[in-house]
Amino acid sequence: ALPRDLEGLRVVVSAGGTREPLDPVRYLGNRSSGKQGYALARTAAQRGADVTLVAAHTVALPDPTGVRLVHAGTAEQLRDAVHEASADADVVVMAAAVADFRPASKADHKIKKTDRDPDPVTLVRNPDILAELVAKRRDGQTIVGFAAETGDSGADVLDHARAKLKRKGCDLLVVNAVGEGKAFEVEENSGWLLSATGDERPITLGSKSQMATEVWDAIHTLRDR
Ligand code: PMT
Repeated sequence: ALPRDLEGLRVVVSAGGTREPLDPVRYLGNRSSGKQGYALARTAAQRGADVTLVAAHTVALPDPTGVRLVHAGTAEQLRDAVHEASADADVVVMAAAVADFRPASKADHKIKKTDRDPDPVTLVRNPDILAELVAKRRDGQTIVGFAAETGDSGADVLDHARAKLKRKGCDLLVVNAVGEGKAFEVEENSGWLLSATGDERPITLGSKSQMATEVWDAIHTLRDR
């Protein structure tokens, strides 16, 4: 059995990938399966935390036991749900892959195929939910971001991640190297844990549950100091 070391903690975890509609049947999306976020929520609940999981699109996954599950389709819906759930949360973990942009407008009807060349799709920026959470952080609230980075080497990935940690202002950043067959969709994950206090350590390749355990261990240590 896992230690009940997160008892009394109210936590919010986001998971999955947002889908930004172009028309009633088409969307811009990403490859997030939700597996990493679900593992984080499940592990926290098993360790005694009070967990709200805000889930965007995922592959078919069992609802984690003992977790409040809220569904959100688009970045804007996820934003509303995360803010509502995190108002009195001690820890917020943003594992969802949130679209940075969405189509400027959604057509009411399925966009028709015609003989003309299609109109270009205009995109607008989505809100940066993590940045908003940091801006309104309550006293004692711990905010954890994820970063999906592509790079030619571990050094590239870490450089980008250090810059992102500074820019985003969160307490912990979990860095995944992504690319062909890595992190998104698959069963295993690896990366680095960077803290605002300058601690950096690698997370070796293992199941997404193992990664979740390491992330919660780091959060627990950070909050115990
Ligand atoms: O779902 P899986 O298939 O298991 O894959 C897991 C994962 C690779 C999706 C996950 O581990 C992960 O890395 N999630 C974050 C992916 C991501 O969107 O990274 P980013 O570098 O684009 O965003 C950085 C951080 O800002 C993230 O915490 C993200 O949730 C947040 N963000 C991003 C954009 C936005 N508009 N608002 C945000 O809050």
